[in-house]
Amino acid sequence: MSLTLSPQQLKEAAEGFGTPLYVYHAEKIKEQYEKLLHAFQDADTRFFYAAKALTNISILKYIRSIGCNVDCSSFNEVQLALKAGFAPNQILYTSNNISFDEIKNAKEAGVHINIDSISNLEKFGNAYGNSYPVGIRLRPNIMAGGNLKIATGHSDSKFGIPIEDIELILKLQQETKLHIRTLHIHTGSEIKDVSIFVQGIDLLLDLVKHFSQLEVIDLGGGFKVPYKKNETGTDMHELGKRVQEKFEHFEKETGRHLQVWFEPGKFLVSEAGYLITKVNVLKQSGDILFAGVDSGLNHLIRPMFYDAWHEIENISNPDGVLKKYNVVGNICETDTFAEARLLPEVSEGDFLAIKNAGAYGFEMASNYNSRYKPAEVLFLDDVPNLIRRRDNMEDLTKNQIEFLNL
Ligand code: LLP
Repeated sequence: MSLTLSPQQLKEAAEGFGTPLYVYHAEKIKEQYEKLLHAFQDADTRFFYAAKALTNISILKYIRSIGCNVDCSSFNEVQLALKAGFAPNQILYTSNNISFDEIKNAKEAGVHINIDSISNLEKFGNAYGNSYPVGIRLRPNIMAGGNLKIATGHSDSKFGIPIEDIELILKLQQETKLHIRTLHIHTGSEIKDVSIFVQGIDLLLDLVKHFSQLEVIDLGGGFKVPYKKNETGTDMHELGKRVQEKFEHFEKETGRHLQVWFEPGKFLVSEAGYLITKVNVLKQSGDILFAGVDSGLNHLIRPMFYDAWHEIENISNPDGVLKKYNVVGNICETDTFAEARLLPEVSEGDFLAIKNAGAYGFEMASNYNSRYKPAEVLFLDDVPNLIRRRDNMEDLTKNQIEFLNL
């Protein structure tokens, strides 16, 4: 039985803090982390939460408190992680197409770094040689992920150093004495098929012989979580078993022990998050009944950007008669959260809870149409705590400089 917040708890939070509101459930995050520990208990693994999914500092602190490490996608995220109390050794910095200055900053901060271009790898080798262990992010030419927008490992992808450049990497290693400690891949998000991860492992293990100082294989994130009822995610136990078998076999054959790192984002926080919206208007148009809510693609862009399916609950009338609605936002765009969705009868003023909103929800929010970003609340021990206040007018204007005295 998976942990959830009850409609009553969500409704009380909406009444207490107003809508639109992001609500997170701390114990659910912990449950997910424990699933990982359990599934990989027989393999030497370390988990780094992909902070880009949700960077609220209270979430980062909570993640640290349960013993998980953190993966950052910008130097600003590295700074947030430090602020949240992570030690440099618990922080990984995996980015793409960044300036060498950011890499220098990360090196100064003493965090683990994965480099994703030949250009930066060469600069790193020339600057630091063997003195600072580093990881390289490879593009494995593996097609994986829920859809093309979240697939990152295929042969047309901008991410990582193309695997076909291996000779160049080896040349740099030799010339600059680079200390390559980690080989990294991240093939995409929402990868259900365990064999995709195994394909990546085989490919990386085959390269280990070229790197005498290698200690870590980093397989990135991308575990699939169920978005629909009756849908299943990645079979973590199967994956744990395959990882253990592969690395044990490798160690037996070569005498080399490697640690396996993962960077889960969605797996840890997606199901722990809800976006609560209020129905502003009901609008009948021919056969279509629109439920227009006080949110939109400015707060949760996943349905519009990735065609992502998010379950919606009418928490004000959970037992009502089912009717079909198009749940739409209030932004001047076609911001459809759900089309022809069966929901318990909706009235104006009802609260709708959009589920699986913990990952890439608030994090991808904007102030489009000059609307405020939502507040965020974290339930811990059944108590709702405000962890971000709603924007206000000052937030919208504070960086603007009025230079015309008209
Ligand atoms: N590691 C690296 C290097 C990544 O680029 C990502 C995600 C992760 C780990 C975590 O992946 P996850 O476990 O969350 O799938 N905004 C999209 C997903 C983009 C993922 C970007 N990189 C969405 O809402 O589906």
